[in-house]
Amino acid sequence: MTPKILIIGAGELGLSLIRSLTSHPAHPSVSVLLRASSSTDLSTYPIKVVHGDISSTAEELTPLLEGYDIVISATGFAGGPNSQLNLAHAVLEAGVPHYFPWQFGVDYDLIGRGSSQPLFDEQLDVRDLLRSQDKTKWTIVSTGLFTSFLFHPSFGVVDLDSSTGKATVNALGGWSNGITVTSAEDIGRITSKIVLDNPDIPQGVVYIASDTIKFEDVSKEVERVGWKVDRKIITVEELEVRRKRDPEDVGPKYALIWARNIGVSWDVGVTWNGKRGIEVESLREWVDRNLPRP
Ligand SMILES: NC(=O)c1ccc[n+]([C@@H]2O[C@H](COP(=O)([O-])OP(=O)(O)OC[C@H]3O[C@@H](n4cnc5c(N)ncnc54)[C@H](OP(=O)(O)O)[C@@H]3O)[C@@H](O)[C@H]2O)c1
Repeated sequence: MTPKILIIGAGELGLSLIRSLTSHPAHPSVSVLLRASSSTDLSTYPIKVVHGDISSTAEELTPLLEGYDIVISATGFAGGPNSQLNLAHAVLEAGVPHYFPWQFGVDYDLIGRGSSQPLFDEQLDVRDLLRSQDKTKWTIVSTGLFTSFLFHPSFGVVDLDSSTGKATVNALGGWSNGITVTSAEDIGRITSKIVLDNPDIPQGVVYIASDTIKFEDVSKEVERVGWKVDRKIITVEELEVRRKRDPEDVGPKYALIWARNIGVSWDVGVTWNGKRGIEVESLREWVDRNLPRP
């Protein structure tokens, strides 16, 4: 029987999941939960839209989640503090058989509580809740950084100035620090395989990766496509000063996670996709396809 799947959110990750799941030969039934105010147009996809808001109470969310075999959250941290934990409570209350929480990111277990990014503690609260029960099966897909986010100005690693053709590449912590990246397209494709290619969906934390590189590789890639690169190291100490100066600024909170170099990289060879020889998009291929030229 084909599963009934609910995807929550249709942003960068949600759209990639929608594309991969709806084009999979298993032809699952796919619904997508969007806020009633959302301007996202999904009319070209063979999906059903349902309306809801993950910042509502667990009691309000529960009935929206009933009747699905698999729920996948693709909202990012968009719902604000407590929304991921709230959603996990609603999923359990609704008796969803299998849940993929929004944990498409770094190794929160290894990073631990009390990190520079307080939202990460909530990810651990969700893990504790899921681990404390055995009614709802769950799978966390650990992806590292979205490849696109590595080049996003707000991440503070790559800064392109098209008026001069100059780029600054900042190494967080040091040039040899590792970064695992997975493109949104690969996350969608591999997650669809995890969900639909196996009679028994793997449970627990599943690591995937498009590529694992070092900050020095990022600077070489930017240079390779024609930018004149200025290289800087931003140290943990520097980021701590910035964080104390402006506690509301999320930039240094995120950057510190990579500068500390714990739980942010793993070998592609040990990943779910690596072990199965699934083709993925390397950093070089992503740069060729997406990075603007000077
Ligand atoms: N590991 C990483 O590197 C990482 C992790 C997360 C995000 N990011 C980066 O951050 C950006 C966000 O990516 P994303 O796909 O996670 O998120 P996104 O593109 O911002 O999409 C979020 C989705 O959630 C919906 N949403 C927001 N608030 C909601 C609510 N209260 N209730 C229900 N739905 C809600 C949005 O719908 P509306 O149309 O209603 O707004 C949207 O469809 C990307 O650029 C990504 O690269 C990176």
